Parts: sequence; structure tokens; C-alpha cells
Amino acid sequence: MVKKKLSDPLENRKGALFFDGFSVKELAEKYDTPLYVLSEKRIQDNYNRLYTALLNNYKYVRIYYAAKANTNLTVLRILQSQGAYLDTVSPGEVFMALSSGFTPDRILFTGVSVRNDELKMLADAGVTINVDSQSELDRLLKIAVPHILSVRVNPEFGAGHHDHCITAGPESKFGLWEEEVIQAYAIAERARVERFGIHMHIGSGILDVEPYVKAVDKLLRIAKRVHEEVGINFEFIDIGGGFGVPYKPEDKEFDLKLFSSKVVKLFKNKVKDYGLGKPFLFVEPGRYLVCDSSILLTTVNTVKVTPSRKFIGVDAGFNTLLRPTMYGSYHQILVANKLDESDKETYDVAGPLCESGDILAKERKLPTVEEGDLLAVLNVGAYGFSMSSQYNSRPRAAEVLIRQGKSIPIRNREQLGDLVSSQKVQCES
Ligand code: LLP
Repeated sequence: MVKKKLSDPLENRKGALFFDGFSVKELAEKYDTPLYVLSEKRIQDNYNRLYTALLNNYKYVRIYYAAKANTNLTVLRILQSQGAYLDTVSPGEVFMALSSGFTPDRILFTGVSVRNDELKMLADAGVTINVDSQSELDRLLKIAVPHILSVRVNPEFGAGHHDHCITAGPESKFGLWEEEVIQAYAIAERARVERFGIHMHIGSGILDVEPYVKAVDKLLRIAKRVHEEVGINFEFIDIGGGFGVPYKPEDKEFDLKLFSSKVVKLFKNKVKDYGLGKPFLFVEPGRYLVCDSSILLTTVNTVKVTPSRKFIGVDAGFNTLLRPTMYGSYHQILVANKLDESDKETYDVAGPLCESGDILAKERKLPTVEEGDLLAVLNVGAYGFSMSSQYNSRPRAAEVLIRQGKSIPIRNREQLGDLVSSQKVQCES
């Protein structure tokens, strides 16, 4: 018998998977599959661990949760109750943020390719706008002169778990380069913007601390130039998110202690050396706060053996979890009712979509799987549901939250009617 090593909130009780104290089998029976199950406690723990680590080396810290990772209103509300602020990237996310109880002064908007009507909506709502281009700044100033403004900097260096997730450096569409940054602040200052921040986000899924050391160093040198050449003070300096999490059992954890002692300390020392006062240090994590707070339950429909491969056909595909198909991402999979059985077989775990790329896991070692077995896909709380779709006309999955020993539905499973609700059939007369 093999005992699988599981970490909080997962537990092995006599070979059966429990999540935050709940039998996942019972959850699947009650709510059906595919089902996202979230742990409130895990989100709270992640937030508190991060906040405490940052505070150890600098007093003025704010965590802006990157809503794009998971925009479920209850998730937003949980983080708001913890004291989080919010980073948003679309008017839709701002709407979600306001709907979940965030006040505009706690919302930052970091868009790209933003339309004029969107700028108007954001300015009217009173959220802090972080401009991504000279064009966006010029258009914003014609619509409204905000009290507070931030500029997204490309520190000329990025990092990330996949090319698609590197958001700075020479290939990146994001942010302004150093000389343009100086000009942008000069223009904003002449237009009588009163309060300022500065921002960067170098990428996503970064497990090492070194990229942050390099990028923060560059960002602060640019902030110093702006301060000296344009004569403005920064209320906040936002160093972005991107803190990685372990997906594979052998992956290391993001070293928060090291991040704080190296990056936060560097920040503290440089703002002092450069005479930048005591700006707030903003960070913008999405994945770190929510990723390991959720699993996806999916039922085995078919087991198919071909001359070359063994397929497990499940009821969740890339319509439900896109990351494996989009980035080749690895998500650990457990056979929820066979935790004590050894991994005897090698399977491809395939979804129900009519695409060959609809594979959640390739050549994965698992116990012998039978039809009706329940699989749990781990670490899906970030960019799981939020990237899901109705592709192949499949209604989106349901979400359930575990809170203080109770399971609470936080998103209804979509119904067939939801597939047609926004369409109009135009019949020929
Ligand atoms: N701030 C900005 C401006 C961002 O663009 C992002 C993510 C974040 C913060 C948060 O990054 P995080 O801490 O979650 O790594 N769909 C991809 C990730 C794309 C992230 C895009 N930007 C994935 O599933 O890996």
C-alpha cells in the first residue's frame, strides 16, 4: 500500500480524499461534476502568510489581489474582508469588484488597449488608473484629469512560467519604457494630476526571487529619475504579482521569507537612499492567494485502450480547465477513491471536447481507473474557472465553497438555457 503525501487542505482518510474536512465523493454526489471546490480558510491563510512576511521588512504594504485569477464574487468578498485591495484589468472586473463591496479607492485598474468609453467609465467610477501607453494617457486627460494616476513601466526585463506569461522585456506589449515614463509623468503633472504611483508587473508563475531583485532595482532607479526630473512624489510603488506556486510534487515553494528579506528590504533601503519618502509598497498577487485553495472534481465516463495509449475520458475538458492545453501546464491528479492504491498504469486524461488537444494530463501514472471513478485535479483556484468557456456548447461548471465546516454553493452550474440566453435567432421572413 502506498500512502500519498497530501498537503493542507487535502487529507487521505482510509484511501478516500477529503478537502477541508469534506469527503469529495459526497460533494460530487451532492453537487454533480465537473465541480470546483474552494476552501475559504486556505485563501485566508495564504493572504495572512503573505502579508505577515512582507510586513516583516517594510511597514507600509498593501496587497492588491489580481482579480483575473478568480473573479468569483465570494472569493473577492473573502479577500476584501481580509483587508485586500484589488487589481483589475477590465471594466467587467471593476464592475465585479464594486458588486462584491470594494470601494473605488481600493481598486486599481491596469488595462491594456483601453477604449475611450472604458476610460470614461473608470474615471467616473473613481478607481485609480494605471496607464499602459502614451496614447492611453493622452486620451484619458482629454476625458478627465484624475486626482491620482499611475504609469505601468516596462523594466526591460521579464520572467514567467511560459512565454505567454512574461509581461515585461523587449517582446512585451505592456508598459512604457524609461524615457517615455519620464515624459508621461511630466505631461500628467502639467495637466495638474495631484497624486502619483508607479507600477510594473514582470510576469506570472515566478518561483525564484532573483527576477524581482533585478526588476525592482530598475523600477526604483526610474522612480528616482521621475522624482528628480519631474519633481513629483510617489504615494505608492507597485512591484506587481507573479509569485509562483508548486504544481508538481517536486516543485519548490515560493520562498516568501527570502523574497521579503531580499526584495522588500532592497525596496526599503533604496526608497530611503533615493529620497523617495515612505511610499506604500503594493504587490499584486493572483495565483499565490487562490491557486491551492481549489480542486476540480471530474468523473470518469470512459476508459479506452488503443494499441498505443490508454485514455481516461472525464467530464471536464479545456472548456473547464484551459491551462494544460494553453500552456502545457501540469496539474496533479488524484483518483479520489483510490488514494492508497499504487500508480500502476500510465494514462492520458482526456476531456469531452471534439479536439485532440483536449487533454488534461499526458502520460500520467495513476492507479487502475474504472468508469465512475472520481478524479480531483489540484491547484485550480487561479486561472481555472476564470478561463473556462462554453466551447462545444457545454455549460460552465458549478463552484462550491467550504466555509467553517459547511459546503455552500457559490456559483450555480450553467444550464442549457444559458447557452442561448444572449442570442437572437434571425429568421428569414
Ligand atoms: N498584475 C498584473 C498587471 C497582471 O497582468 C497579472 C497577471 C497579475 C498582477 C497577477 O499575476 P499572478 O500573481 O497571478 O501570477 N493565465 C495564466 C496567467 C496569466 C497572468 C496574467 N497577468 C496562467 O494560467 O498561468
